[in-house]
Amino acid sequence: EVTPLEMHKVRVVQKLNLLPIEERKESIFGAGFNTFLLQNKDVYLDMLTDSGTNAMSDNQVAAMSVADDSYAGSASYTKLEKAISDVFNQKFFLPVHQGRAAEHIIAKSFCKPGTVVPMNYHFTTTKAHIEMMGSAVEEIYTDEALKTKSSFPFKGNMDINKLNRVIEKWGAENVAYIRFEAGTNLIGGQPFSMANLREVSAIAKTHGIMVLMDISLINENLYFIKVREEGYQNKPIKDILHEMLSYTDFSYFSGRKVSCTRGGGICTNNHDIYMKMRDWVPLYEGFLTYGGMSVREIEAMSVGLYETLDFNVISHSPTFIKYLVDSLDKRGIPVITPSGGLGCHLDAGQFLSHIPQTQYPAGALAAAMYICSGIRGMERGTISSVRDENGDDVLADVELLRLAFPRRVFTLSQIKYAEDRIQWLYDNRHLVGGLEWTEEPPVLRFFVGKLKPI
Ligand code: F0G
Repeated sequence: EVTPLEMHKVRVVQKLNLLPIEERKESIFGAGFNTFLLQNKDVYLDMLTDSGTNAMSDNQVAAMSVADDSYAGSASYTKLEKAISDVFNQKFFLPVHQGRAAEHIIAKSFCKPGTVVPMNYHFTTTKAHIEMMGSAVEEIYTDEALKTKSSFPFKGNMDINKLNRVIEKWGAENVAYIRFEAGTNLIGGQPFSMANLREVSAIAKTHGIMVLMDISLINENLYFIKVREEGYQNKPIKDILHEMLSYTDFSYFSGRKVSCTRGGGICTNNHDIYMKMRDWVPLYEGFLTYGGMSVREIEAMSVGLYETLDFNVISHSPTFIKYLVDSLDKRGIPVITPSGGLGCHLDAGQFLSHIPQTQYPAGALAAAMYICSGIRGMERGTISSVRDENGDDVLADVELLRLAFPRRVFTLSQIKYAEDRIQWLYDNRHLVGGLEWTEEPPVLRFFVGKLKPI
């Protein structure tokens, strides 16, 4: 087993609490068995998400103290534009307050009834914005994508035959754009390959269809192309990134993931595409030189973007995730393989195979994990799905408990604690039962809905 190394040292710390198990039980009952509703003071390791919870570097924190606070034309924003140009090689930029705001503006500008957005896989907020504008989503993942156990290195790839079929079915003029998600979140932080992207982009070009890339999880996709794809081992991260973006017409990101703070943005080299979206930004987000971000966040984002090009920085999460995933896999505990970015994803469907999908095994596993460890993960299964027109649950393709790895936050001994508790839970999995709703919101129900044990 390879021991991953922290290529940074801890200089500011935050105290953690590990509540006694009786209190953890009370907390999860109080939270309606929904880990989103737990108080962070009651959580030992917060592995809910890697969004806005990443560690900042000394240079980021330093940059925040020299922020130029002005509504229009802030010098902090000029630095960000330069970072977007240096790091992403993109000329035009629209700042927004976070990733889903970019999704809102993109969907508003390019989606309408009768059109479709083919994608390798959806993300919750992405799909909601596209469908809100009346467009359809078609997922064109490969057969490997949903196999929880696999050694396929690029499960985030698109199936080229499916793409051709979707274009034929809808007509190229009705394809709003093709969306490629880097580090495909909901199938387990899985990357796509440059070869697949190149092929998709060539097809898109022949049909005059735009390619949009969600680069929120670009760090780890870059890492995996460098270590897994032939011909990229010796290429600098910057060259790999520029090649990736050269196959896109526009891209967007959540700054909560890609540069460790807040905010987000939309990038393009195409002036027409930029102009189609531009005027929505002052309406919904804020003036074009801040887009809803504070200048301190803008400063930290600029520095964070440059740090994305440092192989040591982007290696941290994937190497720590690999450590946990490989160890659980070796013990026969059902976990998504190969290890991806973002986190370790337990296959709750198999882990709790005695719980039917309509009783939410992934939600049950998230609650049980918290009770037995104080670790909070996130349900990524049927609770995160929706109901159909008959009011039945649309069963998720996979029932996952995601244990996210905020970048550069946890030490190896904390990861070993998680490993130990997961083993205990697996040995005692028969103790866990299913869940039912007590309060079910109509939209994005997983955020604030409440459940109870059946
Ligand atoms: N795209 C991807 C791939 C994401 O993972 C997220 C957020 C977004 C877009 C939306 O960005 O949160 O800044 O509005 N993912 C978070 C998560 C919420 O926990 O996986 P946002």
